[in-house]
This record gives sequence, structure tokens and C-alpha cells, in this order.
Amino acid sequence: MSIGKRNTENSHVVSWVKQVETLCEPDQVFWCDGSDRERQTLTQEAIDRGILIELNQKKLPGCYCHRSNPNDVARIEKRTIICTPTQEEAGPTNNWAQPDEMYEKLRNLCSGGMRGRTMYVVPYLMGPPGSPLAKVGIELTDSVYVVLSMRIMTRMGAIAYRQLADSADFNRGLHCMLDMNPDDRYIAHFPQDNAIISVSSNYGGNVLLGKKCLALRIGSYLGRREGWMAEHMLILGVESPEGEKTYVAAAFPSACGKTNFAMMVPPKSFEGWKIWTIGDDIAWMRPGRDGRLYAVNPESGYFGVIPGTNGRSNPNALATVSRDTIFTNVALTPDLDVWWEGKDGDPPAECTDWKGEPWTPASGTPAAHPNSRFAAPMRNNPMLGREIDEPEGVPISAIIFGGRRASTIPLVFQAFDWVHGVFTGATMGSETTAAAAGAVGQIRRDPMAMLPFCGYNMSDYFKHWFRIRKKLKRPPQIFHVNWFRKDSNNQFMWPGYGENMRVLKWIIDRCNGRADATESAVGWIPNAESFDLTGLPSVNRERFEQLQEINSEEWRKEILCQDELFLRLYSNLPKELIFQRELLAARL
Ligand code: OXD
Ligand code: MN
Repeated sequence: MSIGKRNTENSHVVSWVKQVETLCEPDQVFWCDGSDRERQTLTQEAIDRGILIELNQKKLPGCYCHRSNPNDVARIEKRTIICTPTQEEAGPTNNWAQPDEMYEKLRNLCSGGMRGRTMYVVPYLMGPPGSPLAKVGIELTDSVYVVLSMRIMTRMGAIAYRQLADSADFNRGLHCMLDMNPDDRYIAHFPQDNAIISVSSNYGGNVLLGKKCLALRIGSYLGRREGWMAEHMLILGVESPEGEKTYVAAAFPSACGKTNFAMMVPPKSFEGWKIWTIGDDIAWMRPGRDGRLYAVNPESGYFGVIPGTNGRSNPNALATVSRDTIFTNVALTPDLDVWWEGKDGDPPAECTDWKGEPWTPASGTPAAHPNSRFAAPMRNNPMLGREIDEPEGVPISAIIFGGRRASTIPLVFQAFDWVHGVFTGATMGSETTAAAAGAVGQIRRDPMAMLPFCGYNMSDYFKHWFRIRKKLKRPPQIFHVNWFRKDSNNQFMWPGYGENMRVLKWIIDRCNGRADATESAVGWIPNAESFDLTGLPSVNRERFEQLQEINSEEWRKEILCQDELFLRLYSNLPKELIFQRELLAARL
């Protein structure tokens, strides 16, 4: 079939595309098939139009760079809206708009909004083909950058039409770049209609609609209705030298090292241990027939933060981005190689910064944007888990929550049980990062790292966790970690990166009944003998005790800070969480 021509007979798809075409009035409609020929054609077109810059193909085969509008470099939470029929359903932590009013506003904005442009029809599948969790989405977009990125991030093309067959059950996503006016920027979700409309942005987190919009916001809503969970979690498999595999899911707020953790390389003293990546950002999970919780990664690529990525922090990510990658807002060297702050080696004497301006180390500004990104296919990851296409997913033994906290929170603790674990996740706090527009470095409550991604009332979301527990005979154990604790000299106390394997080892030993722990006020903490510090001179036993210290005074303040979120949610908050708060206060 020739490129760009209609490639589905599904009447629901065809009539919806027609409807949007009539509204947006593009010059032409291009039906994507996900083929390599299509990728080549669209890439060339993007280069010719200055949307992509071809990088040095000898050093970085198949790699390109995109520069976004400087007013459009991160997710924009205040413009992210959940349009459920009632405000109560969206809850106090989401922006809400009445659906008909929002549809009307967006129809007006999109009317004729694609004149002079091409509208691409992007069919995509989230999750392994044939999985009971897999979902089909169709994104209509006027951005060729989005098409090429969706091809990396999802299973895009004919595969989605095959899964859909003649069903009407697909996510309807519309993305219109318009003129990028921030005042017209909306990322609007209509969960009851399984629909998304995103306008006036071209930043990945706002416009690669399979990711945050479908896989998390709409996904969490559907999960509640259908009895599964959509979580902001990486998934990894730990393989011991004896070949025993244990799977773990972990939730950290944006830009707190999920991708690094998911691709971790164990330190030398852990010879024979391997970490296999299943996913780096999103987990869809459901109770399996054996009463365990099973997880799939709905995505097929990584949209990771690149600054700070180097041979120490994430060698597997470096290998992954060495080909077939779209970089966004990185700096370019004169020979068209990429540069970012924290890359190995010295900064280049001169380069072009993320805005396209000349840059030298004396410029006093970052060369790459702090939220510059890579979109790379997961198949490039040397440690990609074989199980990624497994329709049932992998059985999860541990769920880990973590935040970026300079004080108070110990390196690791284990929740006493599921309800306490849900309380631990629900009260998670973290310092804000550059992944979202707004101030950086302030502590905010980010329950299960889902604050910007939960598509319905957060209190109902907590209740959903309790409902899922009832369907599990062997629930995962729940843990909390903090790689970011600092000492009185403002120095990080824990080396992080590959050394996090030590924490992971304690966690899986706990899950497999092999490690001892001591009861503390906040949960089970490692015994000195059960935590392996061999070959890590920078953390002696005394330093480790400091990392694990539970300071009652600091924790009392912590409980008071947690109230900020609880008070917002109070009217509908599950009683179990209020009891947990009381218990924690009493233990302290
Ligand atoms: C992301 C985010 O891009 O969480 O994954 O912001
Ligand atoms: Mn994320």
C-alpha cells in the first residue's frame, strides 16, 4: 500500500478522523503505518522543514535533535485538566473543567487550526500485543515530531489496527500545535469518553498522548473501573548469580532517577548479579490467577531526562541513546555531536545551546535545558528484559516508593503491611524538579508519585489500592527509599546509582524471607548484618547509621507537613489512612 494512504477499514476510526478533519481543516490527512519507509520519508521531511537537525551520523546513526519553543519545555500542570462530569470525580488535587464547556472551548481553538498543515493519523498500541491489559489509542496530530516520537515510544502502526479489529474501543487523542501561545495551552482529559485533546504545546509530556495522558491519567481512571492499576512506576527484574529472578516496581516523582534505577549496573562486589529493565516510567498491573500482582510496561521506548547521564550514572542509557534517538533541547557541538551538563568529559570549548545560540563554558547558563530529553527505543537497551512482550506481565514481589529528600527520610524502610505501605506511598514528599514548569526544590506531597497523573479523585485512588489488595493472595511487600539524604555539610550521604543495588538486594532478601530487620517507628529497617556494605569505603557502619537515623523531632514535623495534603482530601479520605497517621504519631 502506498505511504500515507488510509490503511484501516474500521468505520469508527474512519468516521472520527473525518469529523476531526472537518473541524481542523488540514491540507491533507496522512495515515501512518509505522513502517521503516514511512520513518525515512517523515524524517527527511522534518529535516527539510528544520524540525529535526540531523546529527553526526558516524557517531550517532539514526539520531536527530529537536528544539522546542523556549516557552514549551516541560509538562504544564496548571494547564492539565480532568474534565469529568462532576468536580467531585476529579477531586481537589486536579484542575477540573465542565466537559461540555471544555469541548466547546477546544472546538473553537481547533477550528481551522490545521490549515496549511498535514494531519497525521497515528494508531498505537500500549502494552504487549495480546495482553489483557493492552489498549489501543489513535492520536491525530499536526506535528511530525510527535509522529516520529510516538513511533519510538509506542508500538505504532498496523499492529494497533490488528488489535483493535472492528471495535470502537480506542482512545481518541487530538493534538493541535496551533501557534504555541501559552495562554491557549490545554491538556484536557475526558476519562468518561476515553478522549484527550492537547493544544498549543509540542513538549513530549504534553503531546505524546500515549504516555502521561493515556497510560496514566486515563489509564488510572479505566483501571479503577476495570479492576487494574495504572502507576507511575518503573519495573525491573533482579537476577541473582544462581539465576533467581525477582521483579520490583518503583514509584519516584519525575526526574528523581527512575530511568537510572531501571537500568542500574550493579557494583563490582555484586559479581554475577544482573538488573533487567522492563520499564522505566509506567506500570500497568493486575491481580493474576495465582493471587500475585502482575505488571506490564505499556510503552516501547524511553523518554528520559538526559542531563546527568554518564558512564557512572547510567552506562546502559548511554548505549541506548547511541542510535535511533530523538534528542530534545540538548546542546550541539561543532561536529554535530550532542552535549548536556553532566555528560562524561569536559564541556566543549564552544557549542550551540538548546535554544540554538552560541555557547561557551563562560556563558553562565546551562548549554542543555535541565529538562532536555531523549526518546530512544527500548530495544537499544543492552539489559532489556526478555519478558517485555509477555502478555501476562511479570509477578511483582516488591513495590518501592521514593522521593528526593535532603533530611528526615532514611535510606530504606519496609512498611509493616499493605495498609501501612499505602499510607507510606500516600504521604510521600519530594523536592520539585525541572520536569514540570514552576519552582524547583520545594517539598510537595506527591502520593505514589501520581499527583500530576491521577485521572480521578485521589481519595478514591487510595481506596482502589485497598480494593486491589483484597484480590491478592500474595501481595507485594512495600518499601520506601531515599537516595538524596544530605549531611550537615550539605553533602549527599549515599553514593546512589549502581550502589543502590545494595538497597535492592536487602529488599529482595526481605521479600524472599532471607534478611533480618529491626522494628522502628516508621517501619522495618535493616539490621547492620543484613545490609551489604562490602567494597563501599565511603559508607562505613557509622555513616550507614546516620543514613538510617529516625529523628523523632523531624518526623513529628513530617507528620504535620503531611497534613497539608490530608486536609485537602479530608472529606473523602479513607479512614485507614487517618488511623495510620495516628499509629505513626503514637509510635513516635
Ligand atoms: C516524565 C515525567 O516525563 O514524569 O516521565 O515528567
Ligand atoms: Mn514520569
